[in-house]
Amino acid sequence: MSARDPATEKRLAAEAALGFVQPGMWLGLGSGSTAELMVHALGAQVQEGLQIAGAVPTSARTREIAASYGIPLCTLDDVDELDLVIDGADEADPELNLIKGGGGQLLHEKIVAAASRQMVVIADSSKVVSVLGAFKLPVEIIEAARRPLIRQIGELGGEPTLRQSGGGAYRTLEGNLILDCDFGPIEEPAGLARALADLPGVVEHGLFVGMADVLLVGRDGGVDVIRAPERSPSES
Ligand code: A5P
Repeated sequence: MSARDPATEKRLAAEAALGFVQPGMWLGLGSGSTAELMVHALGAQVQEGLQIAGAVPTSARTREIAASYGIPLCTLDDVDELDLVIDGADEADPELNLIKGGGGQLLHEKIVAAASRQMVVIADSSKVVSVLGAFKLPVEIIEAARRPLIRQIGELGGEPTLRQSGGGAYRTLEGNLILDCDFGPIEEPAGLARALADLPGVVEHGLFVGMADVLLVGRDGGVDVIRAPERSPSES
């Protein structure tokens, strides 16, 4: 058996996602290394004549790459609903619940995903887990709430660590902080998502529950297509 090659797996998943793109679509473009590969591949298709209505990037880096190919960019002020968002993930469980935010863009990623009719997630095979939680859950918070939130997240069973960058606290695009929270195995992602969202000072958390429709997993020599289970309207 050959060794797993994450770079190839990411590329295969990223390229497979373009099979979901139709001319005239409004798109959301995710963040992270896998999403960036997808934006490069989409850009090449746009340069070959693919016409999309517009694309909302979820990070400055994604915006920069998309612009370099002449992908038409827009914001959520320009359209009621996006047709499709394509984004990466830090972990995905069999129900297609996700942990995202390793790159710090969880707020914009979730806003764009929530505004999209369909979410396609692209990942290398290391991201597929049976239970979420080996990857520490990013929680974006406002600075004034740091101390109470560290206590309250502890009461929920999490061990928060303030994300650092360049010798100081990491800051999101909005100037907020991120607590990377070790909850151990997250057996009930929906319950934890609700509990975190209820805490004053939490701007957003990286649990994406019931949002992803399709997961494309790059593997040696191919791509696994995993579809989300049927959900009741209240779950989606
Ligand atoms: C960015 O904030 C994240 O949600 C990314 O989608 C996630 O970290 C996956 O990144 P890679 O594609 O680089 O693994």
